[in-house]
Amino acid sequence: MTVSKLIRPIGLSLCSLLLVACGDGAEDADKDQQAVCTELPPLAEKDTYKVGFAQLYEEKGPWRDANTASMLDEAEARGYEMVFDPGTSPDPAEQVARMDALIAAKVDAIFMAPHDETVLAPSVVKARRACIPTFLVDRAVDDRVAKPGKDYVSYLASDFRQEGVLAAEWLIKDTGGEANIIELEGTVGSSPAILRKEGFDETIAEHEGMKILASESADFNEDQAYEATKRLVEEHPSVNVIYSHNDGMSFGVITALEEMDLVPGVDVKIVSIDGTRKAIEYILPDGGEKINVVVECNPKFGPIAFDTMEAYAKGEEVPLRVNNVDRVFDKDSAQAYLPEAY
Ligand code: AHR
Repeated sequence: MTVSKLIRPIGLSLCSLLLVACGDGAEDADKDQQAVCTELPPLAEKDTYKVGFAQLYEEKGPWRDANTASMLDEAEARGYEMVFDPGTSPDPAEQVARMDALIAAKVDAIFMAPHDETVLAPSVVKARRACIPTFLVDRAVDDRVAKPGKDYVSYLASDFRQEGVLAAEWLIKDTGGEANIIELEGTVGSSPAILRKEGFDETIAEHEGMKILASESADFNEDQAYEATKRLVEEHPSVNVIYSHNDGMSFGVITALEEMDLVPGVDVKIVSIDGTRKAIEYILPDGGEKINVVVECNPKFGPIAFDTMEAYAKGEEVPLRVNNVDRVFDKDSAQAYLPEAY
């Protein structure tokens, strides 16, 4: 883990006991709620906590499952009460409602993986006003609305831009700087989709022979990636690389290519992100060498998330941003990583 700026919990004096909200542009606090914090709320040091986790939603796939399990398992291991509703709809308004429920449940602290950077930002402000410290995991919010060190304590995540850079660097080396690429992006407006594209596209732009034939969103979704691959490969028959922003989409790519009588990993190289067991197996000879490289995006946030929360409760300095350091897995390194894969 690497750290950026540090934040130390402020004293209780900055939490005002008011009956009305403070008029800083956020939604009004519940009228029956007495405490309105105007600055980052402190967290009392206790033997146990009641914490809330507002996951994105019950997105299908091993990455999200591993992420949820890591949070829930760690809370259980520490003897905390966890308030968790997985959510069922990708509509960000539903996650806003789940945030409201956590605030109403008066949890001690909230962990949130925001589905939409903009829509969920006011919920962070609302939690702060209700004197509940929030920790962001995996995804960011619009920090013009919810500010680090004021509205939330810390943001713990992978460096998505660096993941895109690592994918591009591996590909440039592997192809000698010559490739015709189709890029399948993640969910429109999500931080991993924006930054994985930025890091990759900017890195390959330095090489004239690296061309992006088409780039569009398949929403981190296997079925959408399958459909997009069929159409885009038809439109761009010279493609010899597909860069997909997550493993789930890479599985859809593989199915589509095989149905088109193309050999994934050979006719069309596959560059993926995540590090799920299935994707890592696909790199290896026993799995058919269908994927050429996977850049890691580690979903196991539980231990670092709760360590950060406990450090904050103790009054220790806590970084505003905690970056996971991600690795690169190809035919030379996949086997060694396999026991860790999920
Ligand atoms: O935010 C992390 C991304 O979300 C993972 O790469 C992906 O699999 C999930 O959809």
